[in-house]
Amino acid sequence: MERLLLCLMLVVAMAVRAQICPKRCVCQILSPNLATLCAKKGLLFVPPNIDRHTVELRLADNFVTSVKRKDFANMTRLVDLTLSRNTISFISSHAFTDLENLRALHLNSNRLTRIGNDTFSGMSKLHHLILNNNQLLVIHQGAFNDLLALEELDLSYNNLDSIPWEAIQRMTSLHTLSLDHNMLDYIPEGTFSLLQKLNRLDVTSNKLQKLPPDPLFQRAQVLATSGILSSTTFALSFGGNPLHCNCELLWLRRLSREDDLETCASPPLLAGRYFWSVPEEEFLCEPPLITRYSHDIRVLEGQHVALRCKARGDPDPAIHWISPDGKLVSNTSRTLVYTNGTLDILISTVKDTGSFTCISSNPAGEAHQTVELLIIKLPHISNNTNSIQEPDPGSSDISTSARAGAAGSNATADGKPGGDKRVVIAEATSSTALIKFNFQRNIPGIRMFQIQYNGSQDDSLVYR
Ligand SMILES: *[C@@H]1O[C@H](CO)[C@@H](O)[C@H](O)[C@H]1NC(C)=O
Ligand SMILES: *[C@@H]1O[C@H](CO)[C@@H](O)[C@H](O)[C@H]1NC(C)=O
Ligand SMILES: *[C@@H]1O[C@H](CO)[C@@H](O)[C@H](O)[C@H]1NC(C)=O
Ligand SMILES: *[C@@H]1O[C@H](CO)[C@@H](O)[C@H](O)[C@H]1NC(C)=O
Ligand SMILES: *[C@@H]1O[C@H](CO)[C@@H](O)[C@H](O)[C@H]1NC(C)=O
Ligand SMILES: *[C@@H]1O[C@H](CO)[C@@H](O)[C@H](O)[C@H]1NC(C)=O
Ligand SMILES: *[C@@H]1O[C@H](CO)[C@@H](O)[C@H](O)[C@H]1NC(C)=O
Repeated sequence: MERLLLCLMLVVAMAVRAQICPKRCVCQILSPNLATLCAKKGLLFVPPNIDRHTVELRLADNFVTSVKRKDFANMTRLVDLTLSRNTISFISSHAFTDLENLRALHLNSNRLTRIGNDTFSGMSKLHHLILNNNQLLVIHQGAFNDLLALEELDLSYNNLDSIPWEAIQRMTSLHTLSLDHNMLDYIPEGTFSLLQKLNRLDVTSNKLQKLPPDPLFQRAQVLATSGILSSTTFALSFGGNPLHCNCELLWLRRLSREDDLETCASPPLLAGRYFWSVPEEEFLCEPPLITRYSHDIRVLEGQHVALRCKARGDPDPAIHWISPDGKLVSNTSRTLVYTNGTLDILISTVKDTGSFTCISSNPAGEAHQTVELLIIKLPHISNNTNSIQEPDPGSSDISTSARAGAAGSNATADGKPGGDKRVVIAEATSSTALIKFNFQRNIPGIRMFQIQYNGSQDDSLVYR
């Protein structure tokens, strides 16, 4: 009788459980844990009535198209979530926010195209993030910021040309990073320097011309095919990239390797050759050679002037400009330095007259070229008639007035508020001002006005 009662209670308990389990799914109570198994059930969405205490949730091989904020709400005990091989193209922001204990998230073989900043926010305990075989084009810069505990990240077989490298740099527990079969063309130097636990890096089939040298690679064993690894070695796969075999890849050529299928794509002399069969001394760089530059230039004060400098070399040389007073020219409100070697002086001043130096440099060397710039001073008309006194362009009257204007009062350009107000600056803000010329009649001899203001950002006077 007692036994019968016990059986009855068990049946009742199971019946209660069966009600919580979503239709078509199987729920296993592996006391005290609950696993909800809904793989291959033809589901079109995440069932709403999943037990919020479930620890494992399998939803692979269904037809789920999107993940909504409520789908996994309150599932604080969930450790393992599998959504592989669905048709997910959209994940609501913060859809995984409540999953504070989640260790593994499988989203491979779906239709994701982008990962936003808040898709994985707060998932500080996640160890495995599997996103391979999607159609990812964009991962926003902050998307991985909270994933500091990640041990495995799989982004292979997507369309990514960039990933949040700075976040990767901080994932110090990472041991497996799969980035193969994407469109990556650049890996910043220092990306792997803190990843002491990394033992597998796959960048096969991307658009990389080079890899950043890193001490980590010293223990690398380069594998063309996956092989058996000892725990201390580091498996690096980089075949199928358009490697540019110059002196910058010499460090890589010096690593030990197992099998080899990698080839060089450039320079022309080495194109198509097997990477590991090219002798070290053929990994050459070429020092820069300046091929074109602006010759002596003369412009009127206040005009725009472009100084050009072009150089070739291997790798492509960087170009810097040194001003006549010996300073490195950088981007300011008056000057723009472009990577193509052009230096734009938007509004020239007499002080720009002198020798500019173009410096072209790459790992193989440096080249210099001097460009002479002569700025022709404009005449400053200051006293053509008895009644008109133009403000002295060299004085700081205007900026004084502008400051007064910014404080809410009007001022005249000649610094005599309440005077005859020939030039009035009104409505001055930090970046705009209304300038009025209150001349009753044409003044003989005045052909143009020059407005001079103080660009205090870089302490230069600007003429218009
Ligand atoms: C989650 O928990 C909150 C508070 O306990 C409750 O209001 C909400 O309805 C729950 N959401 C779901 C989807 O169970
Ligand atoms: C994502 O976060 C980064 C900082 O982590 C920020 O620079 C970027 O603008 C954000 N992007 C979007 C689309 O909000
Ligand atoms: C200066 O600004 C230009 C235009 O915004 C930009 O293309 C260039 O890369 C900048 N140069 C530097 C050195 O930041
Ligand atoms: C360099 O780039 C700038 C900005 O894109 C452009 O205005 C300039 O003409 C270029 N110079 C040369 C020499 O191609
Ligand atoms: C201004 O007028 C004075 C006297 O008429 C003259 O000596 C001086 O050269 C003039 N200055 C300019 C810049 O024209
Ligand atoms: C400045 O001058 C303008 C035009 O003369 C006038 O409308 C405005 O009220 C004046 N502002 C102040 C603060 O005096
Ligand atoms: C420009 O303004 C700043 C701040 O008011 C001042 O320190 C600087 O001397 C001014 N520069 C010129 C050339 O007048």
